[in-house]
Amino acid sequence: MTSLALTVRETLRYRGAIGQWSWVLHRLTGVGVVLFLALHVIDTSWAVFYPGLYVKAIAAYQSPLFTIGEFGLVFAVVYHAFNGIRIAIFDWKPELWRHQAQAAVAVLVLTLLVLAPVFLGMLSHVLDFYFTEAAIAGDKMLDVVVFSILEQLPFIAGFVGVLAAAIVLAAVYSLISGAGNGAAKAPQASPVERFWWSFMRVSGIAIVPLVFGHLALMHVVQGVFDITAAQAVAGTMASNGTIGVVPSAVEFVYHRWSYAAGGVFFWRVYDLFLLVLVTLHGFNGLRYVLTDYTSFSPFARRTAVALCTVMAAILLAVGAAALFVPLEKDIIDEAMAATAEIYELRGEELPAELEAFLSEDL
Ligand code: HEM
Ligand code: HEM
Repeated sequence: MTSLALTVRETLRYRGAIGQWSWVLHRLTGVGVVLFLALHVIDTSWAVFYPGLYVKAIAAYQSPLFTIGEFGLVFAVVYHAFNGIRIAIFDWKPELWRHQAQAAVAVLVLTLLVLAPVFLGMLSHVLDFYFTEAAIAGDKMLDVVVFSILEQLPFIAGFVGVLAAAIVLAAVYSLISGAGNGAAKAPQASPVERFWWSFMRVSGIAIVPLVFGHLALMHVVQGVFDITAAQAVAGTMASNGTIGVVPSAVEFVYHRWSYAAGGVFFWRVYDLFLLVLVTLHGFNGLRYVLTDYTSFSPFARRTAVALCTVMAAILLAVGAAALFVPLEKDIIDEAMAATAEIYELRGEELPAELEAFLSEDL
Protein backbone atom coordinates (compact mmCIF):
# COMPACT_ATOMS: atom_id res chain seq x y z
CA MET A 1 0.00 0.00 0.00
CA THR A 2 2.88 2.34 0.83
CA SER A 3 4.25 2.03 -2.68
CA LEU A 4 0.79 2.85 -4.12
CA ALA A 5 0.61 5.97 -1.95
CA LEU A 6 4.17 6.79 -3.04
CA THR A 7 3.26 6.50 -6.72
CA VAL A 8 0.26 8.78 -6.32
CA ARG A 9 2.25 11.33 -4.29
CA GLU A 10 5.27 11.31 -6.56
CA THR A 11 3.13 11.54 -9.71
CA LEU A 12 1.38 14.62 -8.39
CA ARG A 13 4.52 16.19 -6.92
CA TYR A 14 6.59 15.53 -10.04
CA ARG A 15 4.00 17.57 -12.03
CA GLY A 16 4.71 15.03 -14.60
CA ALA A 17 6.56 15.49 -17.72
CA ILE A 18 4.25 14.10 -20.40
CA GLY A 19 6.02 10.69 -20.25
CA GLN A 20 5.07 10.32 -16.58
CA TRP A 21 1.42 11.17 -17.22
CA SER A 22 1.16 8.86 -20.20
CA TRP A 23 2.55 6.03 -18.04
CA VAL A 24 -0.10 6.71 -15.38
CA LEU A 25 -2.87 6.93 -17.98
CA HIS A 26 -1.71 3.73 -19.67
CA ARG A 27 -1.80 1.96 -16.30
CA LEU A 28 -5.21 3.33 -15.27
CA THR A 29 -6.81 2.57 -18.62
CA GLY A 30 -5.31 -0.96 -18.71
CA VAL A 31 -6.58 -1.76 -15.19
CA GLY A 32 -9.99 -0.20 -15.94
CA VAL A 33 -10.45 -2.32 -19.06
CA VAL A 34 -9.32 -5.51 -17.33
CA LEU A 35 -11.89 -5.00 -14.54
CA PHE A 36 -14.59 -4.44 -17.15
CA LEU A 37 -13.44 -7.59 -18.94
CA ALA A 38 -13.89 -9.71 -15.80
CA LEU A 39 -17.54 -8.62 -15.51
CA HIS A 40 -18.12 -8.79 -19.24
CA VAL A 41 -16.96 -12.36 -19.81
CA ILE A 42 -18.97 -13.64 -16.83
CA ASP A 43 -22.05 -11.66 -17.96
CA THR A 44 -21.74 -12.83 -21.56
CA SER A 45 -21.61 -16.46 -20.47
CA TRP A 46 -25.02 -15.92 -18.80
CA ALA A 47 -26.54 -15.57 -22.29
CA VAL A 48 -26.01 -19.32 -22.52
CA PHE A 49 -26.03 -20.52 -18.89
CA TYR A 50 -28.46 -18.08 -17.16
CA PRO A 51 -30.43 -16.37 -19.96
CA GLY A 52 -32.77 -14.57 -17.52
CA LEU A 53 -29.81 -12.96 -15.77
CA TYR A 54 -28.31 -11.87 -19.08
CA VAL A 55 -31.52 -10.03 -19.98
CA LYS A 56 -31.41 -8.28 -16.61
CA ALA A 57 -27.70 -7.42 -16.91
CA ILE A 58 -28.28 -5.81 -20.32
CA ALA A 59 -31.28 -3.89 -18.89
CA ALA A 60 -28.91 -2.43 -16.27
CA TYR A 61 -26.32 -1.59 -18.95
CA GLN A 62 -28.94 0.37 -20.88
CA SER A 63 -29.31 2.89 -18.02
CA PRO A 64 -27.67 6.36 -18.01
CA LEU A 65 -25.04 5.58 -15.37
CA PHE A 66 -23.67 2.69 -17.41
CA THR A 67 -23.97 4.75 -20.59
CA ILE A 68 -21.48 7.24 -19.15
CA GLY A 69 -19.24 4.30 -18.16
CA GLU A 70 -19.37 3.05 -21.74
CA PHE A 71 -17.95 6.31 -23.09
CA GLY A 72 -15.18 5.99 -20.48
CA LEU A 73 -14.55 2.39 -21.55
CA VAL A 74 -14.21 3.31 -25.22
CA PHE A 75 -11.83 6.16 -24.33
CA ALA A 76 -9.78 3.76 -22.18
CA VAL A 77 -9.49 1.10 -24.90
CA VAL A 78 -8.58 3.57 -27.67
CA TYR A 79 -6.02 5.51 -25.60
CA HIS A 80 -4.45 2.34 -24.20
CA ALA A 81 -4.22 0.79 -27.67
CA PHE A 82 -2.51 3.80 -29.32
CA ASN A 83 -0.18 4.31 -26.38
CA GLY A 84 0.59 0.56 -26.33
CA ILE A 85 1.54 0.71 -30.03
CA ARG A 86 3.82 3.65 -29.21
CA ILE A 87 5.52 1.65 -26.42
CA ALA A 88 5.96 -1.40 -28.68
CA ILE A 89 7.49 0.70 -31.50
CA PHE A 90 9.85 2.55 -29.15
CA ASP A 91 11.02 -0.67 -27.50
CA TRP A 92 11.71 -2.13 -30.91
CA LYS A 93 13.57 0.99 -32.12
CA PRO A 94 15.16 2.49 -28.97
CA GLU A 95 16.86 5.23 -31.01
CA LEU A 96 13.41 6.83 -31.29
CA TRP A 97 13.23 7.48 -27.51
CA ARG A 98 14.46 11.05 -27.94
CA HIS A 99 11.11 11.79 -29.64
CA GLN A 100 9.08 10.28 -26.85
CA ALA A 101 7.58 13.56 -25.56
CA GLN A 102 6.23 14.43 -29.03
CA ALA A 103 5.01 10.85 -29.48
CA ALA A 104 3.10 10.95 -26.17
CA VAL A 105 1.33 14.14 -27.30
CA ALA A 106 0.65 12.60 -30.74
CA VAL A 107 -1.02 9.61 -29.03
CA LEU A 108 -3.38 11.92 -27.12
CA VAL A 109 -4.22 13.93 -30.24
CA LEU A 110 -4.79 10.78 -32.31
CA THR A 111 -7.03 9.35 -29.57
CA LEU A 112 -9.18 12.49 -29.56
CA LEU A 113 -9.36 12.58 -33.38
CA VAL A 114 -10.54 8.97 -33.55
CA LEU A 115 -12.92 9.40 -30.63
CA ALA A 116 -14.70 12.49 -32.00
CA PRO A 117 -16.65 10.64 -34.76
CA VAL A 118 -16.97 7.48 -32.63
CA PHE A 119 -18.55 9.41 -29.74
CA LEU A 120 -20.89 11.16 -32.18
CA GLY A 121 -21.99 7.75 -33.54
CA MET A 122 -22.49 6.41 -30.00
CA LEU A 123 -24.38 9.54 -28.96
CA SER A 124 -26.81 9.16 -31.83
CA HIS A 125 -27.67 5.62 -30.59
CA VAL A 126 -28.06 6.92 -27.03
CA LEU A 127 -30.34 9.78 -28.10
CA ASP A 128 -32.39 7.47 -30.32
CA PHE A 129 -32.95 5.18 -27.37
CA TYR A 130 -33.81 7.85 -24.81
CA PHE A 131 -35.98 10.01 -27.02
CA THR A 132 -37.51 7.91 -29.75
CA GLU A 133 -37.49 4.27 -28.65
CA ALA A 134 -39.11 2.59 -25.68
CA ALA A 135 -36.93 4.20 -23.04
CA ILE A 136 -37.56 3.42 -19.38
CA ALA A 137 -39.45 6.27 -17.67
CA GLY A 138 -37.14 8.25 -15.34
CA ASP A 139 -38.92 7.30 -12.11
CA LYS A 140 -38.79 3.58 -12.95
CA MET A 141 -35.17 3.60 -14.08
CA LEU A 142 -33.68 3.16 -10.60
CA ASP A 143 -36.06 0.26 -9.86
CA VAL A 144 -34.93 -1.55 -12.99
CA VAL A 145 -31.23 -0.99 -12.29
CA VAL A 146 -31.42 -1.93 -8.60
CA PHE A 147 -33.45 -5.03 -9.44
CA SER A 148 -31.06 -6.05 -12.22
CA ILE A 149 -28.05 -5.66 -9.94
CA LEU A 150 -29.63 -7.41 -6.92
CA GLU A 151 -30.40 -10.43 -9.08
CA GLN A 152 -26.71 -10.71 -9.91
CA LEU A 153 -25.41 -10.32 -6.34
CA PRO A 154 -24.79 -14.04 -5.70
CA PHE A 155 -21.95 -13.81 -8.20
CA ILE A 156 -20.15 -11.32 -5.93
CA ALA A 157 -19.72 -14.29 -3.57
CA GLY A 158 -17.81 -15.89 -6.44
CA PHE A 159 -15.29 -13.04 -6.43
CA VAL A 160 -14.80 -13.37 -2.68
CA GLY A 161 -14.21 -17.09 -3.28
CA VAL A 162 -11.56 -16.28 -5.90
CA LEU A 163 -9.74 -14.00 -3.45
CA ALA A 164 -9.85 -16.72 -0.78
CA ALA A 165 -8.49 -19.27 -3.29
CA ALA A 166 -5.64 -16.88 -4.16
CA ILE A 167 -4.68 -16.47 -0.50
CA VAL A 168 -4.71 -20.24 0.02
CA LEU A 169 -2.63 -20.80 -3.13
CA ALA A 170 -0.09 -18.21 -2.00
CA ALA A 171 0.14 -19.87 1.43
CA VAL A 172 0.57 -23.34 -0.07
CA TYR A 173 3.27 -22.04 -2.42
CA SER A 174 5.12 -20.45 0.51
CA LEU A 175 5.00 -23.74 2.42
CA ILE A 176 6.11 -25.91 -0.50
CA SER A 177 8.87 -23.63 -1.70
CA GLY A 178 9.93 -22.94 1.88
CA ALA A 179 10.12 -19.28 0.85
CA GLY A 180 8.39 -18.09 4.03
CA ASN A 181 8.27 -14.34 4.11
CA GLY A 182 11.80 -13.91 2.83
CA ALA A 183 12.77 -11.76 -0.12
CA ALA A 184 11.02 -12.61 -3.38
CA LYS A 185 13.13 -13.24 -6.46
CA ALA A 186 13.44 -10.31 -8.83
CA PRO A 187 10.89 -11.25 -11.52
CA GLN A 188 12.48 -9.32 -14.38
CA ALA A 189 15.56 -11.51 -14.67
CA SER A 190 14.05 -14.85 -15.75
CA PRO A 191 13.43 -16.17 -19.29
CA VAL A 192 9.77 -16.56 -18.30
CA GLU A 193 9.56 -12.82 -17.62
CA ARG A 194 11.28 -12.08 -20.91
CA PHE A 195 8.63 -14.19 -22.62
CA TRP A 196 5.85 -12.20 -20.96
CA TRP A 197 7.54 -8.92 -21.83
CA SER A 198 7.53 -9.86 -25.55
CA PHE A 199 4.05 -11.38 -25.26
CA MET A 200 2.64 -8.06 -23.98
CA ARG A 201 3.92 -6.31 -27.10
CA VAL A 202 2.95 -8.97 -29.63
CA SER A 203 -0.48 -9.66 -28.09
CA GLY A 204 -1.14 -5.91 -27.75
CA ILE A 205 -0.62 -5.39 -31.48
CA ALA A 206 -2.67 -8.52 -32.35
CA ILE A 207 -5.52 -7.33 -30.12
CA VAL A 208 -5.88 -3.99 -31.90
CA PRO A 209 -7.97 -5.17 -34.89
CA LEU A 210 -9.94 -7.63 -32.74
CA VAL A 211 -10.92 -5.17 -30.01
CA PHE A 212 -11.49 -2.29 -32.41
CA GLY A 213 -13.66 -4.53 -34.63
CA HIS A 214 -15.65 -5.71 -31.60
CA LEU A 215 -16.16 -2.20 -30.27
CA ALA A 216 -17.06 -0.75 -33.68
CA LEU A 217 -19.72 -3.42 -34.04
CA MET A 218 -21.08 -3.07 -30.50
CA HIS A 219 -21.06 0.70 -30.38
CA VAL A 220 -21.16 2.29 -33.78
CA VAL A 221 -22.70 -0.23 -36.20
CA GLN A 222 -25.18 -1.78 -33.77
CA GLY A 223 -24.91 0.04 -30.46
CA VAL A 224 -25.55 -1.33 -26.98
CA PHE A 225 -29.21 -0.31 -27.16
CA ASP A 226 -29.81 -2.11 -30.45
CA ILE A 227 -28.92 -5.43 -28.83
CA THR A 228 -32.55 -5.58 -27.70
CA ALA A 229 -34.10 -3.99 -30.80
CA ALA A 230 -36.03 -5.72 -33.59
CA GLN A 231 -33.47 -5.37 -36.36
CA ALA A 232 -30.80 -7.24 -38.29
CA VAL A 233 -28.09 -8.60 -36.00
CA ALA A 234 -24.70 -7.14 -37.02
CA GLY A 235 -22.43 -9.58 -38.83
CA THR A 236 -25.16 -12.19 -39.44
CA MET A 237 -28.04 -12.76 -41.87
CA ALA A 238 -30.59 -13.02 -39.01
CA SER A 239 -32.94 -10.56 -37.34
CA ASN A 240 -33.60 -10.22 -33.63
CA GLY A 241 -37.14 -11.17 -32.57
CA THR A 242 -37.60 -13.89 -35.18
CA ILE A 243 -37.20 -16.77 -32.71
CA GLY A 244 -38.59 -15.15 -29.57
CA VAL A 245 -41.91 -13.31 -29.72
CA VAL A 246 -40.10 -10.06 -28.89
CA PRO A 247 -36.39 -9.25 -29.45
CA SER A 248 -33.98 -9.95 -26.60
CA ALA A 249 -30.28 -9.67 -25.77
CA VAL A 250 -30.10 -13.47 -25.56
CA GLU A 251 -31.44 -13.88 -29.08
CA PHE A 252 -28.87 -11.34 -30.27
CA VAL A 253 -26.02 -13.50 -28.91
CA TYR A 254 -27.77 -16.66 -30.16
CA HIS A 255 -27.80 -15.34 -33.75
CA ARG A 256 -24.19 -14.16 -33.56
CA TRP A 257 -22.85 -17.42 -32.23
CA SER A 258 -25.04 -19.50 -34.58
CA TYR A 259 -23.88 -17.67 -37.68
CA ALA A 260 -21.73 -19.94 -39.85
CA ALA A 261 -19.97 -19.06 -43.10
CA GLY A 262 -18.45 -21.94 -45.08
CA GLY A 263 -19.07 -24.26 -42.10
CA VAL A 264 -17.13 -22.00 -39.71
CA PHE A 265 -18.86 -20.31 -36.77
CA PHE A 266 -17.18 -17.03 -37.58
CA TRP A 267 -18.09 -15.02 -34.47
CA ARG A 268 -17.31 -17.89 -32.10
CA VAL A 269 -13.80 -18.17 -33.57
CA TYR A 270 -13.40 -14.39 -33.46
CA ASP A 271 -14.55 -14.21 -29.82
CA LEU A 272 -12.26 -17.11 -28.88
CA PHE A 273 -9.17 -15.27 -30.18
CA LEU A 274 -10.36 -12.09 -28.48
CA LEU A 275 -11.00 -13.93 -25.21
CA VAL A 276 -7.62 -15.69 -25.06
CA LEU A 277 -5.44 -12.76 -26.12
CA VAL A 278 -7.21 -10.10 -24.09
CA THR A 279 -7.40 -12.24 -20.92
CA LEU A 280 -3.72 -13.24 -20.99
CA HIS A 281 -2.57 -9.72 -21.85
CA GLY A 282 -4.90 -8.00 -19.38
CA PHE A 283 -4.24 -10.25 -16.39
CA ASN A 284 -0.49 -10.34 -16.95
CA GLY A 285 -0.70 -6.53 -17.06
CA LEU A 286 -2.69 -6.56 -13.82
CA ARG A 287 0.01 -8.78 -12.30
CA TYR A 288 2.65 -6.14 -13.17
CA VAL A 289 0.55 -3.47 -11.53
CA LEU A 290 -0.35 -5.43 -8.39
CA THR A 291 3.17 -6.76 -7.82
CA ASP A 292 4.51 -3.20 -8.11
CA TYR A 293 2.28 -2.19 -5.20
CA THR A 294 2.86 -5.25 -3.03
CA SER A 295 6.66 -5.18 -3.00
CA PHE A 296 6.52 -4.51 0.79
CA SER A 297 5.55 -8.17 1.47
CA PRO A 298 6.45 -11.33 -0.48
CA PHE A 299 3.25 -12.97 0.77
CA ALA A 300 1.06 -10.12 -0.49
CA ARG A 301 2.97 -10.29 -3.75
CA ARG A 302 2.34 -14.02 -4.13
CA THR A 303 -1.33 -13.48 -3.32
CA ALA A 304 -1.49 -10.85 -6.06
CA VAL A 305 0.09 -13.21 -8.59
CA ALA A 306 -2.24 -16.06 -7.53
CA LEU A 307 -5.25 -13.73 -7.78
CA CYS A 308 -4.39 -12.77 -11.36
CA THR A 309 -3.73 -16.41 -12.30
CA VAL A 310 -6.97 -17.72 -10.77
CA MET A 311 -9.08 -14.94 -12.29
CA ALA A 312 -7.57 -15.43 -15.74
CA ALA A 313 -8.07 -19.22 -15.53
CA ILE A 314 -11.72 -18.80 -14.50
CA LEU A 315 -12.44 -16.30 -17.27
CA LEU A 316 -10.79 -18.49 -19.89
CA ALA A 317 -12.75 -21.54 -18.71
CA VAL A 318 -16.14 -19.79 -18.41
CA GLY A 319 -15.69 -17.75 -21.61
CA ALA A 320 -14.62 -20.77 -23.66
CA ALA A 321 -17.39 -22.94 -22.18
CA ALA A 322 -19.97 -20.39 -23.33
CA LEU A 323 -18.45 -20.45 -26.80
CA PHE A 324 -18.33 -24.24 -27.13
CA VAL A 325 -21.64 -25.45 -25.71
CA PRO A 326 -24.27 -26.19 -28.37
CA LEU A 327 -26.90 -23.43 -28.34
CA GLU A 328 -30.44 -24.58 -27.53
CA LYS A 329 -33.44 -22.49 -28.51
CA ASP A 330 -35.00 -22.83 -25.05
CA ILE A 331 -32.59 -20.16 -23.76
CA ILE A 332 -34.77 -17.74 -25.71
CA ASP A 333 -37.92 -18.90 -23.87
CA GLU A 334 -36.18 -18.13 -20.58
CA ALA A 335 -35.21 -14.72 -21.94
CA MET A 336 -38.88 -14.02 -22.72
CA ALA A 337 -39.88 -14.58 -19.09
CA ALA A 338 -37.15 -12.20 -17.88
CA THR A 339 -38.14 -9.61 -20.51
CA ALA A 340 -41.69 -9.70 -19.10
CA GLU A 341 -40.31 -8.99 -15.59
CA ILE A 342 -38.51 -5.93 -16.93
CA TYR A 343 -41.71 -4.68 -18.60
CA GLU A 344 -43.56 -5.09 -15.31
CA LEU A 345 -40.89 -3.18 -13.39
CA ARG A 346 -41.04 -0.38 -15.91
CA GLY A 347 -44.78 -0.23 -15.22
CA GLU A 348 -45.48 -0.84 -18.91
CA GLU A 349 -48.00 -3.16 -20.48
CA LEU A 350 -46.62 -6.39 -21.89
CA PRO A 351 -46.79 -6.60 -25.69
CA ALA A 352 -49.79 -8.83 -26.57
CA GLU A 353 -47.62 -11.50 -28.19
CA LEU A 354 -45.42 -11.75 -25.10
CA GLU A 355 -48.46 -12.08 -22.84
CA ALA A 356 -49.93 -14.77 -25.09
CA PHE A 357 -46.59 -16.62 -25.16
CA LEU A 358 -46.28 -16.61 -21.36
CA SER A 359 -49.85 -17.74 -20.77
CA GLU A 360 -49.37 -20.63 -23.23
CA ASP A 361 -46.28 -21.59 -21.28
CA LEU A 362 -48.16 -21.86 -17.95
C1 HEM B 1 -19.66 -1.91 -23.74
C2 HEM B 1 -18.97 -2.40 -24.77
C3 HEM B 1 -19.15 -3.81 -25.22
C4 HEM B 1 -20.30 -4.45 -25.58
C5 HEM B 1 -21.71 -3.89 -25.68
C6 HEM B 1 -19.94 -5.81 -25.88
C7 HEM B 1 -20.84 -6.79 -26.27
C8 HEM B 1 -20.56 -8.11 -26.43
C9 HEM B 1 -21.50 -9.13 -26.83
C10 HEM B 1 -22.97 -8.89 -27.17
C11 HEM B 1 -20.85 -10.31 -26.85
C12 HEM B 1 -21.48 -11.66 -27.18
C13 HEM B 1 -20.89 -12.32 -28.35
C14 HEM B 1 -20.94 -11.55 -29.62
O1 HEM B 1 -21.99 -10.98 -29.94
O2 HEM B 1 -19.88 -11.55 -30.30
C15 HEM B 1 -19.48 -10.05 -26.44
C16 HEM B 1 -18.49 -11.00 -26.29
C17 HEM B 1 -17.19 -10.73 -25.90
N1 HEM B 1 -16.63 -9.49 -25.68
FE1 HEM B 1 -17.61 -7.73 -25.70
N2 HEM B 1 -18.59 -5.95 -25.71
C18 HEM B 1 -18.06 -4.75 -25.30
C19 HEM B 1 -16.75 -4.45 -25.03
C20 HEM B 1 -15.74 -5.38 -24.98
C21 HEM B 1 -14.34 -5.09 -24.71
C22 HEM B 1 -13.76 -3.70 -24.45
C23 HEM B 1 -13.68 -6.27 -24.71
C24 HEM B 1 -12.22 -6.55 -24.49
C25 HEM B 1 -11.51 -5.96 -23.57
C26 HEM B 1 -14.66 -7.33 -25.00
C27 HEM B 1 -14.38 -8.67 -25.07
C28 HEM B 1 -15.30 -9.67 -25.34
C29 HEM B 1 -15.00 -11.08 -25.33
C30 HEM B 1 -13.64 -11.70 -24.98
C31 HEM B 1 -16.18 -11.76 -25.67
C32 HEM B 1 -16.38 -13.29 -25.76
C33 HEM B 1 -16.88 -13.78 -24.41
C34 HEM B 1 -17.01 -15.27 -24.29
O3 HEM B 1 -16.19 -16.01 -24.82
O4 HEM B 1 -17.94 -15.74 -23.58
N3 HEM B 1 -15.89 -6.75 -25.16
N4 HEM B 1 -19.31 -8.70 -26.20
C1 HEM C 1 -5.86 -2.77 -27.87
C2 HEM C 1 -4.59 -3.07 -28.00
C3 HEM C 1 -3.59 -3.06 -26.84
C4 HEM C 1 -2.27 -2.73 -26.97
C5 HEM C 1 -1.54 -2.31 -28.25
C6 HEM C 1 -1.68 -2.88 -25.65
C7 HEM C 1 -0.34 -2.70 -25.36
C8 HEM C 1 0.22 -2.75 -24.12
C9 HEM C 1 1.63 -2.60 -23.84
C10 HEM C 1 2.73 -2.39 -24.88
C11 HEM C 1 1.78 -2.69 -22.49
C12 HEM C 1 3.08 -2.51 -21.71
C13 HEM C 1 3.58 -3.83 -21.26
C14 HEM C 1 4.82 -3.71 -20.39
O1 HEM C 1 5.00 -2.72 -19.69
O2 HEM C 1 5.62 -4.66 -20.43
C15 HEM C 1 0.47 -2.91 -21.91
C16 HEM C 1 0.23 -3.03 -20.57
C17 HEM C 1 -1.01 -3.34 -20.05
N1 HEM C 1 -2.16 -3.63 -20.75
FE1 HEM C 1 -2.41 -3.45 -22.74
N2 HEM C 1 -2.64 -3.28 -24.76
C18 HEM C 1 -3.83 -3.42 -25.46
C19 HEM C 1 -5.04 -3.83 -24.93
C20 HEM C 1 -5.28 -4.11 -23.60
C21 HEM C 1 -6.53 -4.57 -23.07
C22 HEM C 1 -7.79 -4.87 -23.90
C23 HEM C 1 -6.36 -4.68 -21.71
C24 HEM C 1 -7.34 -5.15 -20.69
C25 HEM C 1 -8.03 -6.28 -20.84
C26 HEM C 1 -5.00 -4.28 -21.41
C27 HEM C 1 -4.46 -4.25 -20.12
C28 HEM C 1 -3.16 -3.90 -19.84
C29 HEM C 1 -2.63 -3.77 -18.48
C30 HEM C 1 -3.40 -3.98 -17.18
C31 HEM C 1 -1.27 -3.42 -18.63
C32 HEM C 1 -0.25 -3.16 -17.51
C33 HEM C 1 -0.06 -1.68 -17.32
C34 HEM C 1 1.12 -1.33 -16.46
O3 HEM C 1 2.00 -2.17 -16.18
O4 HEM C 1 1.20 -0.15 -16.07
N3 HEM C 1 -4.36 -3.94 -22.56
N4 HEM C 1 -0.46 -2.95 -22.92
